[in-house]
Amino acid sequence: MPLTRKAYRAALLHSIADPAEVGIEASYEYFEDGLLVVENGRISAIGPASELLASLAADTEITHYPDALITPGFIDTHIHLPQTGMVGAYGEQLLDWLNTYTFPCESQFADPHHAREVADIFIKELLRNGTTTALVFGSVHPQSVDAFFAAAEKLDLRMIAGKVMMDRNAPDYLTDTAESGYLESKALIERWHGKGRLHYAVTPRFAPTSTPEQLTLAGQLLGEYPDLYMQTHISENLQEVQWVKELFPERKGYLDVYDHYQLLGERSVFAHGVHLCDDECARLAETGSAVAFCPTSNFFLGSGLFNLPMAEKHKLNVGLGTDVGAGTSFSLLHTLNEAYKVMQLQGARLSPFKSLYLATLGGARALRLEERIGTLQPGTDADFLVLDYHATPLLSYRLKQAKDIAETLFVLMTLGDDRTVAQTYAAGNLVHQR
Ligand code: GUN
Ligand code: ZN
Repeated sequence: MPLTRKAYRAALLHSIADPAEVGIEASYEYFEDGLLVVENGRISAIGPASELLASLAADTEITHYPDALITPGFIDTHIHLPQTGMVGAYGEQLLDWLNTYTFPCESQFADPHHAREVADIFIKELLRNGTTTALVFGSVHPQSVDAFFAAAEKLDLRMIAGKVMMDRNAPDYLTDTAESGYLESKALIERWHGKGRLHYAVTPRFAPTSTPEQLTLAGQLLGEYPDLYMQTHISENLQEVQWVKELFPERKGYLDVYDHYQLLGERSVFAHGVHLCDDECARLAETGSAVAFCPTSNFFLGSGLFNLPMAEKHKLNVGLGTDVGAGTSFSLLHTLNEAYKVMQLQGARLSPFKSLYLATLGGARALRLEERIGTLQPGTDADFLVLDYHATPLLSYRLKQAKDIAETLFVLMTLGDDRTVAQTYAAGNLVHQR
């Protein structure tokens, strides 16, 4: 294959460590006038333009983005493809919201044509918002995942998804069985897992909608293939937590249900965890599991406030999730704006560099993909964004007053959204241009 080499000149910023572990100053690298060199879809060099320009082969095409910031692509560790058409469903909290709005909306994915149409809209929306990797719930229908992966493969995106397994406490038109859920998941794994940059996630919706038999088979699948993911929900809403106690009286608590069925591990991501207790955080950390923090969803459904300091105390891996359609935005910038307020309401702070970490390297670590994505380190996939300092008149004016990159970053997260993302690159290809 002939070598393709391109270079991008702009301000460059990426997380290189968790501020909770190394302190803020050691957690990031920033080049005010930087150069990012990309070769065959991977980053090959990063540094000050003044140093790198001289060493660049003379025929290298250089794209200059003055007044913009290049960051790694954002990583959404929890989102639902079949809920794209129901963002902003009025009035209910989790369990009534599922029955009233979610299940009927997801049932439309029985039609493969609908699945393909929404998958295209969904992927465009991810890229418009600067999300280059997402951990995605399909519907119970395997065709939802086929549609999603087919669209992601065309653009060579790094994506993770799975078909929902759900064999009780949901309408008949939307349930599988323990056996069919297992077989359909297995067929999808055979078809997609490890193809290009795609990965499969075994996806029991949450404990209340799976029988013990189904949870057993989900655990069995994880043992049958290397590097499979597992995604589900946990402790999002107090009524839900109470219901799980009633359904599984023999278990110590909500997490213990998943633990019993061997669903914890290094590639397991639990959405929400708003009402987790200290012991549960410790167990999640001990097993290398991760939690997806979904602030816009937790506000929208009135679920509660995620306790990030408690997760940090346990060195638990945390990523950021939009949780569309309970979440109200595809934008991880907007999600960080809300995450800041979640901390404020608990008397805590969220530094802009911790926020950057959560949206990039923290998400990559939650997914065990930090060798591939989440930073601008040489050798990793060239998935990156160009954030426009002049995206809106207010942003442009506000940033003129910013005294340093910390303030600039914080303002980008407070005022930013899809308009801020001027370009999105995946595997070195331009996949979104505003
Ligand atoms: N718990 C079980 N299913 C869902 C879902 O679709 N969205 C959210 N937010 N929580 C859930
Ligand atoms: Zn969810």
